[in-house]
Amino acid sequence: MSTATINAAESGTFTIGDMTVNRLGYGAMRITGPGIWGEPKDAEEARRVLKRAIDLGVNFIDTADSYGPEVSERLIGETLSPYPKNLVIATKGGLTRQGPDQWAPVGRPEYLRQQVEMSLRRLRTERIDLYQLHRIDAKVPVEESLGALRDLQKQGKIRHIGLSEVSPGEIERARKTCEIVTVQNRYNLSDRAHEQTLTWCERHRIGFIPWFPVAAGKLARSGGPLDEAARRHGASVAQLSIAWLLHRSPVMLPIPGTSSVKHLEENVASAGVKLGPEEWRSIENESGTTP
Ligand SMILES: NC(=O)c1ccc[n+]([C@@H]2O[C@H](COP(=O)([O-])OP(=O)(O)OC[C@H]3O[C@@H](n4cnc5c(N)ncnc54)[C@H](OP(=O)(O)O)[C@@H]3O)[C@@H](O)[C@H]2O)c1
Repeated sequence: MSTATINAAESGTFTIGDMTVNRLGYGAMRITGPGIWGEPKDAEEARRVLKRAIDLGVNFIDTADSYGPEVSERLIGETLSPYPKNLVIATKGGLTRQGPDQWAPVGRPEYLRQQVEMSLRRLRTERIDLYQLHRIDAKVPVEESLGALRDLQKQGKIRHIGLSEVSPGEIERARKTCEIVTVQNRYNLSDRAHEQTLTWCERHRIGFIPWFPVAAGKLARSGGPLDEAARRHGASVAQLSIAWLLHRSPVMLPIPGTSSVKHLEENVASAGVKLGPEEWRSIENESGTTP
């Protein structure tokens, strides 16, 4: 596939609240150091990835204050602002960092208020398009965490609010405090533990943002079902994993993450990988991942 023809628009659109985006987005967690800690090994390549994503029609970028921490948001602000009009940037708060690969939830209202102010500054914007509570903090009633975000929304600092790693029951409870427009849970062809949450999102037409979308795990092993199907279709395993997500549900908004322009181009090209329903069913059956 020539890179001139690759465009995220081929994935179709979804409207998050009142913001319409191409369904295939980009996850900016990987433009940081090892363990999602510190600066990326190649900052220039990270900037090229961000710019190339826009060239390829990506208009939905996911990040978080904890990626680096601060690094991913700062690079996005420095590289892409002033932002194209149709670009939606989603960030998150509520996970603190103690070192590489260490993450701890903090959902206290005063902490979240501070984090929103800091994200606004790093992203060089006056309003965050989509602010996601990164984790519900078991020590803080979710009404308190979301109450702080709802107040910031009223002040015009946040446009829409989303959740991450939640069950249908948790979304129902959250919705009593504020409107929830997206859910971001771990989900891919080899890990469908959040199937019920996806079904809930479909029923309520709210966006489901699957993280770890390229993690095809054992399905991708040489000679495995995904590997063979990819070869049959002249696609890579990563492309097939992303294309399956797009096929799986109209509310699905995959955000594959990468630190390289080459992988970005490959991933965005997944938007053009179209298989028939029978072929997808056989991949699911062969993979043994039907829910
Ligand atoms: N809500 C949450 O709790 C949560 C948690 C984790 C992630 N996220 C979000 O979800 C996004 C995606 O998740 P993720 O980055 O963990 O997983 P992913 O997109 O499934 O995989 C990223 C990994 O796969 C590699 N990769 C990407 N494209 C590839 C390709 N075409 N061929 C081979 N390898 C490829 C990347 O390495 P290279 O850099 O070398 O390409 C990177 O190591 C993140 O960027 C972040 O925005 C959210």
